[in-house]
Order: sequence, then C-alpha cells, then structure tokens
Amino acid sequence: MSGELKAAACRAAMRHVRPGQVVGLGSGSTMAIFTAMLGQESKSRRLELKVVPSSYEAYYLALENGLQVASLDEFPSPDIAFDGADQINRKLDMIKGGGGALTREKIIDAASKFVVVVVDESKLVERLGEGFPVPIEVVPMAAKALLKRVGEMGGRGRIRAGGGKVGPAVTDNGNFILDVDFGAVSEPAKLEKDLKLLPGVVEVGIFCGIADLAYVGCREGVKELPA
Ligand code: 5RP
Repeated sequence: MSGELKAAACRAAMRHVRPGQVVGLGSGSTMAIFTAMLGQESKSRRLELKVVPSSYEAYYLALENGLQVASLDEFPSPDIAFDGADQINRKLDMIKGGGGALTREKIIDAASKFVVVVVDESKLVERLGEGFPVPIEVVPMAAKALLKRVGEMGGRGRIRAGGGKVGPAVTDNGNFILDVDFGAVSEPAKLEKDLKLLPGVVEVGIFCGIADLAYVGCREGVKELPA
C-alpha cells in the first residue's frame, strides 16, 4: 500500500517538470519511484532534462533510467528539486536522513529555485521527532564527543550501524551518522541551528524553510501542502 501511495504522490509531483530543466533529485525509496517515472516521462516527452543527484544511489538510478546527470558545479541553481522525507509537518519542516543522504540533499534543495517533497501519509506528523530520531552527519573523530554533547542537550543518540559491513555506516562523504532521539521537537529551526554550531557536525537532518510544496499520498487521494 505504501508503495502505491508513494507512486500516486510522485505522479502528482510530475506536473512541475518542464522541458530543459535542471532537476535536483533526492534519495530513498520514494525518489527511486519518482526517478523511474521521470525517466519515462523524459523519454516520451523528449524533455532534455539534466539531473543533479544527491547520492551514489540517486546517481546510478538516474543513469539506469536514461537521465542525463549533471553536477552542482555546472548548474549551481537547479530549476527545481524533488525530495522525499522521513517526517514532514504542515509547515513543511522535515526530518530527513533516514537514507544517510541528508548533507547532499540539503545542499541541492537549498540551492534549487523550487523544492517539491513527495511522501506517503505515514510521513505526515503533528510534531517532528516523535517516533523518528534526528540524523546528524558528523566527522568520524568527533562522533563520541558529539554523542556526549547531544546527551547534554537532552538527546539519546547512537552511531548508525552499517549494512553489508561491520562497524558504522559511512556516508557518501566519508562521515558517520548519529541518530539522536530528542522526542517531540517543539522548535525545529532552533534545534537545527544549535546542533549545527557543534564542532564536528557536518549537517543536521532537520530541514526548515526549504520545501515549497509537498504531495502526500493518502488512502483518500493525494493531498497538497500547504493546503
Ligand atoms: C534520505 C532521505 C529520504 O528522503 C528519506 O529517508 C525518505 O526515504 P524513503 O522515501 O525511502 O521513505 O532523507 O537521506
């Protein structure tokens, strides 16, 4: 069911794609569905798009779906970015980084002229942080010291374990991820800034003021936010 809801939201988001655009692409299972649709759409409508991927996963998916890959160096202000989320509230503040691609996603989203988020209804929450920890990308040698610092700030954190390897997960940038449970976050923008100031923090998976629009795949249809 969740796959169908994600696909419905992706179809709704597709209406924003125009010929010749430079398109930022987020990472994760929803963006994998979106990228496959984008590849088909681009081929059938001869859209001549260039896509800027946010991870190795997004890069390979773009290539497999026949999309022309470009870099932020060549196109520093993509026309539009599409991205998934782990949690989103009605103000379009988000928690991202479940897939570990938060840093490149935030760079691409922040650089893009318009950001469209695509999620299924399970991601829409009243309060960010309830039921999902905040991912924080950190320089490896700072990981333990930062666990102590976030503990003093009221968070309970752990170093994310790798899959298919022993030891910590290593991001596409060669860093570690801390998953920190702060419970319900009442002031996400403040927490984002406070965490960002800690030495060793590369990026924080709280995205405030970045998304312009979200499509939420719900059982009763696709909702557009803000309504
Ligand atoms: C990756 C992300 C993803 O957008 C987020 O994890 C959602 O993934 P999915 O679409 O698989 O639920 O932030 O860093």
